[in-house]
Amino acid sequence: MPCNCCEITDNAFSEAEARAELRNYRRRGPMNQTKLILEAIRSLGIKNANLLDIGGGVGAIHHELLEDMAREATHVDASSAYLKEAKLEAARRGHGERVHFIHADFTDVASELPKADVVTLDRVVCCYPDFHRLLKAATDHSQRALAFTYPRETWYMRFALKVANFFQGLRKDPFRVFLHPVAEMDALLKTEGFERVSLRRLFVWEMALYQRR
Ligand SMILES: C[S@@+](CC[C@H](N)C(=O)[O-])C[C@H]1O[C@@H](n2cnc3c(N)ncnc32)[C@H](O)[C@@H]1O
Repeated sequence: MPCNCCEITDNAFSEAEARAELRNYRRRGPMNQTKLILEAIRSLGIKNANLLDIGGGVGAIHHELLEDMAREATHVDASSAYLKEAKLEAARRGHGERVHFIHADFTDVASELPKADVVTLDRVVCCYPDFHRLLKAATDHSQRALAFTYPRETWYMRFALKVANFFQGLRKDPFRVFLHPVAEMDALLKTEGFERVSLRRLFVWEMALYQRR
C-alpha cells in the first residue's frame, strides 16, 4: 500500500463495519443508490460484460451483475476489511473464480490493469480527495460505459459533510469526505469522450451513467 491516501482509507473502514454491511446486503439486497447503478447498467443491454468495480465495498455490484449480464469482474479496493467480506460473499455465491480482487488505491495500479466494458464507482469519489485523478484513470479503463454515485450538491449535503469532517478532525482521524463539483466531474467525463445518458437522484445520492461516444 504505497500511498498515504490509501492507508487512510483502509483505516477508515473497520472489519466490524464491513461485516455489518455484508449482513445488511444479505438481508435486504443492494442499497437504493446501488440499485440505480444496477438498473442503469442493465438498461444498456450489454451481454457477457467485463466489469471493473472500483471501491466496490462488500461487492454488491459484481455479486448482482455476475448473476445475469457480466462474465467476469475486477474489484479494486483500498479497504482490506471490505475486500475480505466481498471475497467471502463471492465464494458463497459460487463467483469466486470469476472475480479478481485487488487491494490497492486504484490510481496506483490502474496502469497495470486491463480495460473493461463497464466501470462502476458507487459512493467512491466522495472518499477520494483528487477526483480528477480517480475519474481520469476510471475513464481510461472503460470501453463502453461508466456509472457512479456521489453526494448531491445541496445545502444539506454541504452541511452534513462539514459536520462529519469536523468530527473526524476532533477524533484526529485524517479520513475526510468530499463533495466534488458535479459540473467539473461531468466536464472531465465529456473531455474523455463520454456522454451522460442517465441522471437519477435520491435524497443524498445522485447516480450518473455515461456511455463512450
Ligand atoms: C463508502 S465505501 C462504498 C463501498 C461500496 N461501493 C458501496 O457503495 O457500498 C467507499 C469505498 O471506496 C473505496 N475507495 C475509496 N477510494 C479508493 C481508491 N482510490 N481506490 C480503491 N478504492 C477506493 C474504499 O476503500 C471503500 O471500499
